[in-house]
Amino acid sequence: MITHTHSLESPPRTDGLLIRWAPFYDSVVDVLTLGHTRRLRNVTIDAALLDVGESVLDVGCGTGGVTIPAAERVGPRGLAAGIDPSPEMIAVARSKADRLNLKVDFRIGVIESLPYPDGSFDAVTSSLMMHHLTPELQVKGIAEIYRVLKPGGRLLIADTTIPRGFFLKRVFGLIARRHGVKFGVEDLTGVLKSAGFAGVNVLEMRFLMLGFVLATKQSA
Ligand SMILES: C[S@@+](CC[C@H](N)C(=O)[O-])C[C@H]1O[C@@H](n2cnc3c(N)ncnc32)[C@H](O)[C@@H]1O
Repeated sequence: MITHTHSLESPPRTDGLLIRWAPFYDSVVDVLTLGHTRRLRNVTIDAALLDVGESVLDVGCGTGGVTIPAAERVGPRGLAAGIDPSPEMIAVARSKADRLNLKVDFRIGVIESLPYPDGSFDAVTSSLMMHHLTPELQVKGIAEIYRVLKPGGRLLIADTTIPRGFFLKRVFGLIARRHGVKFGVEDLTGVLKSAGFAGVNVLEMRFLMLGFVLATKQSA
């Protein structure tokens, strides 16, 4: 009897924190967003100002939560790609896109070494992934994003934000200290400016504990 084993590749080396429990990931996000995952995804691609016909790369794409609605937004005349070092996450993302009959270029890869030529994309999205990187990797990854963006291209980062209220600020501080991390999406503005991004804006809107930063690469 011939048996076909579909063993997954081993992940590339990275200091980033991988998620390997891919089959449960979407359900966990749904719980954390209190059932509003779809709204979060729509808010994210709206904030990235994605338009029909554009090319978009989703870094640390996971199961394609942002990549898939982004592919629907840019449509068949556009191009959507997603990279993640976790083979399990990429496998789930590919099967979700296949079920929807959507063409998305999902690849196993790392943000610190993006497998695309300079100036490939109109927009890059990074959703809930920057806090998975060490500060050194954030610097390298953001430089790579800058490289693969076209002049005038946009980067939208959605990630945890430092809460505004006194009580939540204290809770966030305690959790962050306990886990040895200090991260709010607004902490990235300095890194973004150093990488060369021109317009770097922390958006006013928030979604639960998440904030958004939109940065633009200088036009040629
Ligand atoms: C919390 S998940 C976010 C997934 C997806 N973007 C979303 O919004 O649901 C963070 C992802 O970052 C990925 N990751 C970790 N290190 C990475 C790296 N060096 N480069 C790219 N992605 C990385 C993990 O494997 C994981 O899938």
